[in-house]
Amino acid sequence: MAQIPEDVIEKIRSQVNIVDVVSQYVQLRQSGKNLFGLCPFHEERTPSFSVSEDKQIFHCFSCGRGGNVFKFIMEIENLSFPQAVKKVAELENLPIDQKYFSEGSSGSSSSQNSEQKQLIGLNEEAVSLFNHILLNTKIGEPALKYLRDRGVNDKTISQFKLGYAPNQRLLKQFFDQKKVDYQLLRKSGLFAEDQQGNLHDRFVDRVMFPIRDPNGHTVGFSGRLLGAQENMPKYLNSPETETFNKSKILFNLDFARPNIRKNEPAILFEGFMDVITAFQNGIKTGIASMGTSLTEDQVYDIKRITNQIVVCYDGDTPGQKAIKRAIDIFSPKKGFDVKIVVIPDNLDPDDFIKKRGVQKFEELLSHTQAPLEFELSFLKRNYNLDSEDEQTRYISEALKLISGVGSSLSRDLYLNRLAEEFKVDKDVLKKQIQPLISNQNEVENNLNQGSLSVLPINNVDTSKHLSLVQKAEECLLNRMLNYRDIWLKVSNISGFSFVDEQFQMLYLLAEGYFSKYQDYQIATFSNFISEASLQSLLIEIDMLDLAKDPTDEEINDYLAIIMKKAPVEQQLKEKRLQLREASKIGDEQKVQQLTIDIINLEKQKQQAHLEQA
Ligand code: UTP
Ligand code: MN
Repeated sequence: MAQIPEDVIEKIRSQVNIVDVVSQYVQLRQSGKNLFGLCPFHEERTPSFSVSEDKQIFHCFSCGRGGNVFKFIMEIENLSFPQAVKKVAELENLPIDQKYFSEGSSGSSSSQNSEQKQLIGLNEEAVSLFNHILLNTKIGEPALKYLRDRGVNDKTISQFKLGYAPNQRLLKQFFDQKKVDYQLLRKSGLFAEDQQGNLHDRFVDRVMFPIRDPNGHTVGFSGRLLGAQENMPKYLNSPETETFNKSKILFNLDFARPNIRKNEPAILFEGFMDVITAFQNGIKTGIASMGTSLTEDQVYDIKRITNQIVVCYDGDTPGQKAIKRAIDIFSPKKGFDVKIVVIPDNLDPDDFIKKRGVQKFEELLSHTQAPLEFELSFLKRNYNLDSEDEQTRYISEALKLISGVGSSLSRDLYLNRLAEEFKVDKDVLKKQIQPLISNQNEVENNLNQGSLSVLPINNVDTSKHLSLVQKAEECLLNRMLNYRDIWLKVSNISGFSFVDEQFQMLYLLAEGYFSKYQDYQIATFSNFISEASLQSLLIEIDMLDLAKDPTDEEINDYLAIIMKKAPVEQQLKEKRLQLREASKIGDEQKVQQLTIDIINLEKQKQQAHLEQA
């Protein structure tokens, strides 16, 4: 199926007035230049949702969502980008070539080839069979009793389409009667193959949990033993198949997504029984990986929906170690706001909810820890704090962790606590931590003390805890997008890059945009951005209330902050990448320039090492 070309997308967008489309969902009132209404994506009493007819974008001041007409439809109708383009065209009766949607109309699932569809078909038939056996047959009774004893109610069984795979190896018979192709059965992951190539039901005497992809299609199963059996895994999963990739799938993402979009954090659990029990108790934003540590792919999928994560793993030691890994993978530079829930008494969330009730669980959810808080208490377990010697060692390790905190105010708060906890003088701690605080923080502190004249920090929304560098990046990108001469000036600085990954991504996307379009129009640029968090960032940048005309001084200030911060390492990495590109296309002049830059950077790096020594 053909991808919808950029110019087709833009043509539709430019023929539609976002105000007409949004008005079909939200009551809007004119107020000044913009229209306002109650944000459809979360509960609110006073309108913080605005639509700009001029710019053809929407933006909610409260939840930060924003974008062009396609983003609005994606969010409100829960559609993929191509589906949203189609929907907008239809709403406005604009013609759009059906060839972009020929294989069914469901955008992202249409990338599935027909074999994948057949495999999903088999999985879904198996879902029905297992569910039927669980609910309506004698052989299913023990499994049904098992689930009920665990507190799973009928509604949950039907929502999650739980089932039972009995001893009788029914599935193979079932598909044989239907004359399903042998090769397809082999690839489905529902069967184990013996040496003669005969297929046998893989799942025997197990409660079956269908695993759905983000579109709600069943792509695999996990089967749980009814009781403990020696030498048998408690949960058996489908093997990797064309549709089932354990490192990509997030259990329950399809059900959780619309709830997360209402501006609730995604709750990350370890087990899918935790997700199911929470769901049954009204906590509907839970997701889980398949018993493996979180992967970059999964993080990416989460990021497309939210940047707010609550990690809610088991209270036992492996669970706590897994939290540490999760914190690391959601490292703050990716723009995540991560919180940790600690479940007491070695319980897992499922047990906790059942034993103590959902209200107590909600209390836990409202008393989350910041990652550093968690790491400090995690660290503490390694020390016997009755010994003064170990106390000292703990404190010095703790200071290392605290020194990594970007904001000096938060650092100070942690120092207060540490001083209080161990009855030590805070000034002593301050002295100890000083050399640990990275140079980057220093630079930031100096700048914060007002050596810069024009940076309009006051205009920037400080509630988002942006660092000074991020603020400078935000302002600079605003200016670059809106003023062609500033764009040219900055993009021609050799070795320039944004420190923050998010800003750098937007910058690169804008490069792509300007290679096609002369003038900057935010609604058109918005077509180029698929990631929700980047979309919000772009709107945020656009909303900055900067002075009317930028001065050279202003731009130079931003640059000074950013360039000082960009670590030499990172600049080197960029340069080497560019060098590789340049040699590939045989751009001799550029190769020369880049080589010189790299040599200079290497020198700088050595210098820095010498100074440190
Ligand atoms: P747990 O052992 O914590 O399971 O494994 P649980 O969720 O508490 O399950 P119950 O309450 O005993 O039924 C957490 C996750 O690890 C994976 C599963 O995805 C499970 O949800 N796992 C666990 C396996 O894949 N295989 C196993 O044998 C065990
Ligand atoms: Mn459990």
